[in-house]
Amino acid sequence: MKKVLVTGGAGYIGSCVVEKLLERGHHPVVFDTFFWGYSPVEAYRSRATFYEGDVRNSRDIVHALQGCDAVIHLAGLVGAPACDNNPLAHFTTNVESTNTLINCMTDPEVGLVRDFVYCSSCSIYGNVAGIYDQVDEDTPFMPLSSYADGKIKAERIIFDKAKAIPHFTPTVLRLTTIFGWSPRPRLDLVTNLFAHKALNEGRITIFGNGLQYRSLIHVWDVADALVHALDTPRYLRDRQVFHVGEEENNVTLRWLAEKVKEYVPGTEVEYSSEVSTDRRDYQINCQKIKNALNWRASYSAEAGLKEMVEKLREGNINPDAPEWRNNGHNYQ
Ligand SMILES: NC(=O)c1ccc[n+]([C@@H]2O[C@H](COP(=O)([O-])OP(=O)(O)OC[C@H]3O[C@@H](n4cnc5c(N)ncnc54)[C@H](O)[C@@H]3O)[C@@H](O)[C@H]2O)c1
Repeated sequence: MKKVLVTGGAGYIGSCVVEKLLERGHHPVVFDTFFWGYSPVEAYRSRATFYEGDVRNSRDIVHALQGCDAVIHLAGLVGAPACDNNPLAHFTTNVESTNTLINCMTDPEVGLVRDFVYCSSCSIYGNVAGIYDQVDEDTPFMPLSSYADGKIKAERIIFDKAKAIPHFTPTVLRLTTIFGWSPRPRLDLVTNLFAHKALNEGRITIFGNGLQYRSLIHVWDVADALVHALDTPRYLRDRQVFHVGEEENNVTLRWLAEKVKEYVPGTEVEYSSEVSTDRRDYQINCQKIKNALNWRASYSAEAGLKEMVEKLREGNINPDAPEWRNNGHNYQ
């Protein structure tokens, strides 16, 4: 059993990670500001440790780290709009806190914690249409947003520290775009958003011709990959970068919208000539994680979409409430 600090443990991915850790016999320490409340992880309260804190605060971090064997770092402002609207919080949380966290993990006075799994994003590849058919972990970065730029900076901090500190053994997982239902659903991610728009407005708007590719992965697959990475022998993952995705889930927005129409009949798909602020276009190669860590995704994009439509139809959440979207949150 490992005691694992999960920063951002009450979020969309984090709440699934907590359950996966428990399933595999580990003890999660849920470390979060709880911006979205406690309810996503309330069910785990008796089996996990909860710590309300800020990843930018070394005092909070050193206390929460006591007795931990590993860290899964998820806390942050997620997505380009949230980062653009809150540039100072973006820098301090998404970039600088990586430094603080690793300094606390690796200081011998505080207690060494070697294993660190960081959630980066394939957004760092930007738009590679016409340049690369698929991107692998060595493809050059072309960030198109402050969010993606912050992920690159955080990765650099991690690998610079790993060069300087031999006993620090990080793993970076670059996630494709997530979809699917979680204890803290998010409706600002493309698949989930399309399902919501189809059900509530009967219409999906796509900026451009819809032939831009997105690479998709279910949130429970992501949680599984994060815990799987931690459970893998260290020599296989030490200082490695892995994409978390599935090639079959490399789909165009047009494909996704057409699929939504199958599950929500009557949905209109509108193509707008307005230029989207999100110009990402890439297909992700995910062979490395399959070969080196023997990990595969289990959900198809279609299965996740169907599940999302069903969950939204059940009506357990008010889809118009602000807490299901990160874009409008005022981060300090
Ligand atoms: N969702 C995606 O498609 C996606 C894709 C690639 C990478 N990621 C990365 O995965 C991680 C988690 O994303 P998510 O989708 O679960 O987002 P989320 O917003 O649901 O979760 C983030 C959590 O971090 C917490 N948090 C924010 N600032 C904090 C701080 N200063 N101190 C402590 N906690 C803080 C929030 O309260 C929230 O619970 C992020 O690092 C994100 O960049 C997400």
